Amino acid sequence: MQLHNFNSGPAILPKEVLDQAAAAIHNFNHTGLSILEIGHRTSHFVEVIEEAKQIVKRLMDIGDEYEVLFLQGGATMQFMQVPMNLLDENGLAAICDNGVWGNKAVKEAKLFGPVAVVSDSSDKKHTYLNKQLDLPQGTTYLHITTNNTVEGTQWHQYPQVNVPLIGDMSSDIFCRPTDFKKFDLIYAGAQKNMGAAGVTMVVVKKSLLGKVNRKIPAILDYQKHIEAGSLLNTPPVFSIYVSLLTLRWIEKEGGLVEMEKRNQEKATLLYNTIDAHPLFNCPIAKEDRSIMNAVFFLNDTSKEAEFLDLCKKSGMIGVKGYRTVGGIRVSMYNAMPLSSVQIFCDLMNNFS
Ligand SMILES: Cc1ncc(COP(=O)(O)O)c(C=O)c1O
Repeated sequence: MQLHNFNSGPAILPKEVLDQAAAAIHNFNHTGLSILEIGHRTSHFVEVIEEAKQIVKRLMDIGDEYEVLFLQGGATMQFMQVPMNLLDENGLAAICDNGVWGNKAVKEAKLFGPVAVVSDSSDKKHTYLNKQLDLPQGTTYLHITTNNTVEGTQWHQYPQVNVPLIGDMSSDIFCRPTDFKKFDLIYAGAQKNMGAAGVTMVVVKKSLLGKVNRKIPAILDYQKHIEAGSLLNTPPVFSIYVSLLTLRWIEKEGGLVEMEKRNQEKATLLYNTIDAHPLFNCPIAKEDRSIMNAVFFLNDTSKEAEFLDLCKKSGMIGVKGYRTVGGIRVSMYNAMPLSSVQIFCDLMNNFS
C-alpha cells in the first residue's frame, strides 16, 4: 500500500533527499567515509555548512548584515535563547500568543524580562489571528509565530512595526517568497520544511546583538556562535547535511516561487473539499488559514473515529489532530505532492 505522510513534524522529505542522505551514510562525497564519521572541523564539513548558509541567504535574499547559524536545542530552546540574548529588565518583549507555541514563547520570555501579550486569540480557541497590535511604549521587539502548526493559522501579511521583528518560522520556513528583511531574527526547527530533526536554523541581524545587561553562557550566546561559524562545539553534522540536501532541492525545483505555487494548489484543493461538504467543518477564519497545516473537524463527531480508521486503512499517516485540539490535521509541507492531497480529498468525498 502506498503511504501518504501528512505528519506535522518530523515530516515528509523529498525522496531524492532521503536517497542522497542514505548514500552519504556509507560514502560521503567519495571520501570513503560516512557523513557520520567525518570531523566537523574538516574541510568536508566546513564546505557543507558554508554551502547551506549561502543557499539560505540566496533564498532569503539577505546580505552580510545577517548571520545564519545552525544550532541545537530545537525551536523550543529559542523560546528562551531569544529573550536571554535580547531582553533584560530595561526592555519589554511584545509577543503574539496565537496558540501552543506562541504561548510557550511568552512563558519563557517572562524569565528574562517584562512581557506584553499583544495578540491573543484564545477567545475563539485560536481559530483566527488577532492583528490589532498595540505595542507598549519601550517595546524591545515583537515576536510572532508565523504559522501556528497546532491550530492551523498563518500570518499572510506580517505586522508593520518599527521595532525589531522576531519570527518563529518552524512550520512555514521557505513555503513561499517572504520579505525576510522585515525580520531581525528568524528561527526554525528543521524537521518540517528544511530537513531532519536535531538542528535549528537561526538567522540574525548582527546589529541586534550585544545590548543586554547580563552575562550569557557561551553555548547560548548568538555572538559566540557567530564568531565560531556555528562550530562552537560539535554541531549536529548529519542533520545539517540533510538540511543542505533539502535546501539544494528547494532551489533546484524552482525556489520559493515554485514552493508557493505548489503549496497554494494543495491548500486550495483541500480547503475547497472541506468547505464543499456539510460533514466537515474548518473553523479557521478564511483569511488566516494555513497553507501548511489544515485543521478541521467532523460536524458529526460520532463519525470521527470511523473517518480516522478509514484514513489509517488507506495509508494516510498523521492526520489525527493535536491532542489538545482534536479533530483532523493535515500537514502539507513543501515535499508533499499534490497527488497525495488529491487522494486524501477523494477519500473525504467518498466518506462524505
Ligand atoms: C511553530 C513551532 N514552534 C516551535 C516548535 C517546537 O519545536 P522543537 O520541537 O524543535 O523544539 C514547533 C514544533 O512543532 C512548532 O511547530
